[in-house]
Amino acid sequence: EENHRESLMIVSGFAAKFFQESMWETDEGKSIGLSYFKERGFTTETIKKFELGYSPDQWEAFSSHALKEGYQQQFLVESGLSVLRDNGSLYDRYRGRVMFPIHSFTGRVIAFGGRTLKNDKSVPKYVNSPESEIYHKSNILYGLYFAKKAIRDEDNCYLVEGYADVLSVHQAGIENVVASSGTSLTVEQIRLISRFTKNITILYDGDAAGIKASLRGLDMILEEGLNVKVVLFPDGDDPDSYVRKVGTNAFKKHIDENKKDFILYKTDILLKEAGTDPIRKADVIREVVESIAKIPDSIKASVFIKECSHIMQIDERSLLSELNKMRLAKA
Ligand code: CTP
Ligand code: MN
Ligand code: MN
Ligand code: MN
Ligand code: MN
Repeated sequence: EENHRESLMIVSGFAAKFFQESMWETDEGKSIGLSYFKERGFTTETIKKFELGYSPDQWEAFSSHALKEGYQQQFLVESGLSVLRDNGSLYDRYRGRVMFPIHSFTGRVIAFGGRTLKNDKSVPKYVNSPESEIYHKSNILYGLYFAKKAIRDEDNCYLVEGYADVLSVHQAGIENVVASSGTSLTVEQIRLISRFTKNITILYDGDAAGIKASLRGLDMILEEGLNVKVVLFPDGDDPDSYVRKVGTNAFKKHIDENKKDFILYKTDILLKEAGTDPIRKADVIREVVESIAKIPDSIKASVFIKECSHIMQIDERSLLSELNKMRLAKA
């Protein structure tokens, strides 16, 4: 088993090197891959640190090279780097894409995200590694290996959506940043963060149509006993585009001035939606108290009850009795 996992990591490391060489040492790689990253504003230092690369725009460049070097078909296929054809031959999963290696906790390459360079809605923007014995998507946070020390030092973790967000924010000198890589956050990911800090600041894309949908998912962070703050960016911006636009200081200032505790943020959004309809307002109150009931620390919970009673203009005692009912129902 350990051998099996080790083999998958070795082939992934080999692939990362291949993609790096393909970017730095070929004309195609330099003119297409490297210039893409440079145009996005990534420095050589960032590109090297995160081991970014480029996959040649051919069907078998990687697979045939790997086979020639003696890598076994089984591991090439299981890692998702190669795909098996009906006729038994292999082709490359990643072709003509810029490559973002995904690192384990200890810095080994375990998977990849490959971004298309085409502006064509019919091709997926990112192609990612499939699940494998070394890559369980729900247990991984992109960038954690490069962020963990800063997360501990700063006692806070910035959570962003995408690869480029991690790179740009890190490059701006804010190194305590990881990405959930587009999927909704899992309990495992939260527990990973909570090994380093109990404070999470979520930096959402400004386009986030999914903000509302994610509200319920975030309750899970409360259940784990973490403090959650949320920062929104202007419509159309994500942390990557925003930090490049305004620079590090204004970016930090935006965060400081706009960070909002998750529960208060949720209360605001739901209340706005409910408008003046008393029945809908009652639903909001219940939903907010439900979130508060998930906070394990009862003193913290009662502070939120107090604040929310102001925002919602409802008697603190009735919120408390609702809270206690929910706690009893849960016990
Ligand atoms: N994602 C994915 N597959 C897609 C789209 C998105 O896996 N087809 C994941 C990627 O990890 C991506 C993240 O979701 O980084 C956020 O998606 P999005 O905001 O659309 O992409 P960006 O990271 O902003 O990508 P870019 O700036 O390169 O356009
Ligand atoms: Mn095995
Ligand atoms: Mn988005
Ligand atoms: Mn982006
Ligand atoms: Mn984005």
